[in-house]
Amino acid sequence: MADPQLASEIIGLSPPDKPDPRWHIRVRQLKKSFGPNLVLDGVDLDLERGKVNVILGASGAGKSVLIKHFMCLLRPDSGNLWVDGTDVFSLDQKALAQFRRKFGLVFQFAALFDSLTVEENCAFPLKEHTNKSKGEISDIVADRLGALGLAGTQRKYPGELSGGMRKRVGLARALVLEPEILMYDEPTTGLDPLATRNVDEMILGAGERYKVTSVVISHDMASVFRIADRIAILHNKRILEAGPAEVIAASRDPYIYEFLRASGVSAIGKLAAGHLGGEPPT
Ligand SMILES: Nc1ncnc2c1ncn2[C@@H]1O[C@H](COP(=O)(O)OP(=O)(O)OP(=O)(O)O)[C@@H](O)[C@H]1O
Ligand SMILES: [Mg+2]
Repeated sequence: MADPQLASEIIGLSPPDKPDPRWHIRVRQLKKSFGPNLVLDGVDLDLERGKVNVILGASGAGKSVLIKHFMCLLRPDSGNLWVDGTDVFSLDQKALAQFRRKFGLVFQFAALFDSLTVEENCAFPLKEHTNKSKGEISDIVADRLGALGLAGTQRKYPGELSGGMRKRVGLARALVLEPEILMYDEPTTGLDPLATRNVDEMILGAGERYKVTSVVISHDMASVFRIADRIAILHNKRILEAGPAEVIAASRDPYIYEFLRASGVSAIGKLAAGHLGGEPPT
């Protein structure tokens, strides 16, 4: 096997219920229905620590439902999920509240409080969850805003900011509690190409600066191939294929090939160029 990373995936997966230096979140045979609507039917997935892990799939495939399980915002009908070896669905309410602080969430609409300033929005989680002094909170907020190119916006209201800036404020707020895992659900939807690039850079920058594991759901294929270390394809209620971005880009699976092509693959650039220029899979 020429690719050592691929080889290790095939031969070396450790038991999912033990902490592992490489795999941060591990999902096994996760099943979830809403009434008669079976959404996830045996999802197996490993998300890599410190990397950008992208989940792709058609609209309604169950991507948002899947990532809500990661922090136990939803409970499955069956299956297991471990974060650093912790069996998430076995936690009681108190342990769960503590556990959820590992996560930061950035949604499509930044979900800021319109009546609060940027500073107050970002300070909110710290006031809720810590006993830090006003001065400490203000320093942390200034640090996160500065890191995201938002220095000086503290006294502005969300309504005074552009969509891209609001997303960055949403990320700054997600970063104040120093999460280990940052989850982005369609962070670039509704942004123009330039603002999308800014959000991409912000995702990469936050990953590097704060050493977080990133989980990203996106429909923007150009953006996906700029940021993804790993990609998992959710299809037919399961993970059809998961691996390094370049491996998925070159997949010979007919569904993945069509999915990437239909999603505007010409924007992907050189990463997939060889694949796209070639013959479709048979
Ligand atoms: N709280 C809920 N109650 C009932 N059904 C739900 C709930 N949340 C999601 N669903 C259903 O689960 C399915 C998957 O939804 P989900 O939001 O995960 O899709 P998605 O892959 O994120 O799609 P999109 O790309 O459009 O955001 C849909 O059929 C949806 O109607
Ligand atoms: Mg969704």
